[in-house]
Amino acid sequence: MDDGISKRKEQRIEKKITQLKENQESAAIQEIIEFDKTPADLKADMDRFVIGQEQGKKIMCTAIAFHYRRLGQALKKGMAASSGDIDIALRNTITPKANIMIIGPTGCGKTFTGETASNLVGVSFVHEDMTKFSEVGYVGQNATDILVDLLLSAGGNPNVAQMGIVYFDEIDKIATETIAYKDVSGRGVQKGLLHMVDGSENTLHIGKERISLSTKHVLFIAGGAFENLDSIVKQRMVRQGLKGNWRHFLMADDLVSFGMERQLVGRFPVRVVYDQLTTQDLKNIMINSQGSALLAYRNDLLAWGIDLEFTDDALTEVARRAEQEGTGARGLISIIHRVLLEDMYRLPGNFTGEFVVDHNYVKERLG
Ligand SMILES: Nc1ncnc2c1ncn2[C@@H]1O[C@H](COP(=O)(O)OP(=O)(O)OP(=O)(O)O)[C@@H](O)[C@H]1O
Ligand SMILES: [Mg+2]
Repeated sequence: MDDGISKRKEQRIEKKITQLKENQESAAIQEIIEFDKTPADLKADMDRFVIGQEQGKKIMCTAIAFHYRRLGQALKKGMAASSGDIDIALRNTITPKANIMIIGPTGCGKTFTGETASNLVGVSFVHEDMTKFSEVGYVGQNATDILVDLLLSAGGNPNVAQMGIVYFDEIDKIATETIAYKDVSGRGVQKGLLHMVDGSENTLHIGKERISLSTKHVLFIAGGAFENLDSIVKQRMVRQGLKGNWRHFLMADDLVSFGMERQLVGRFPVRVVYDQLTTQDLKNIMINSQGSALLAYRNDLLAWGIDLEFTDDALTEVARRAEQEGTGARGLISIIHRVLLEDMYRLPGNFTGEFVVDHNYVKERLG
């Protein structure tokens, strides 16, 4: 008896996997070719998830809708010219890229916007924390990791991966000044990213396989808190006699003063500034966002036959407490969790029906 997988079974599995990848590939390509959401359509969809940040969402949705429309149209032509060969079409397609930089305080929806956009467009998404670069001070292995993550998020299909979104979180942590004291070069890290962000041809060696993966169509979004960037802009505005909201005056120079390399900044030409969420925004998130923590808890409890309701003044109280935590919408999760912890333990199996949380109840639970 053979204790491994028989040769025939192995071949069948391999064939199935190849088929799956091909199906997934044609579905993904088709989706991009047919992409016809206008920026306003995309924003209307986004509004169901991301609350507030009106101006920022407009800029984001415009950039993303244009990117995928442009790529879709170019691919369509490329496919026609290459009799439907995706590899050749992707290779021959040239599209100017406008990567996006989002600046804003913690928990205000930067990553969430990127993730939601990828879901709405139907492309893969990877989230990379840039602090890992600031720790080692060079790009090398981490760059390969990013490409592998991208490939994984695309179910192992390199063509699907090539059309995805890569989100660089905490990009401000690789600013030269931030990591200078660590005796590693922020400049080196930033320079190391230039090729990838621009669009590079890469070969990944995975097991016996060599996989080509280009980043020329990948949309890069970089997000960071950039603490005190506002004062850099405001000081410059004073020097130049400019008046108004600093967000409207943000320039590449200001990001360079912060410690970003000019070449890297130049590769993120679309710049978006997100605001700190207000108490009202936080409340709206609980009421309206399809991605809200409260909705998740409500669904969880519904699975036990418990119909959770928060009164309006209870929501205001939760929003107020969350704002005090200073972690943006993340604060909502921790506050709601603290309010419900006891009930989540006690109620399932003992209670069904409507369970109302009011203002007093919240105060009682939170002290
Ligand atoms: N504007 C918003 N509308 C709806 N939900 C939001 C919003 N902002 C944040 N959230 C919720 O909070 C969570 C955390 O937000 P997100 O990951 O986008 O923070 P961030 O801005 O990237 O912060 P950080 O700088 O810490 O990475 C999201 O997963 C989402 O559930
Ligand atoms: Mg984030």
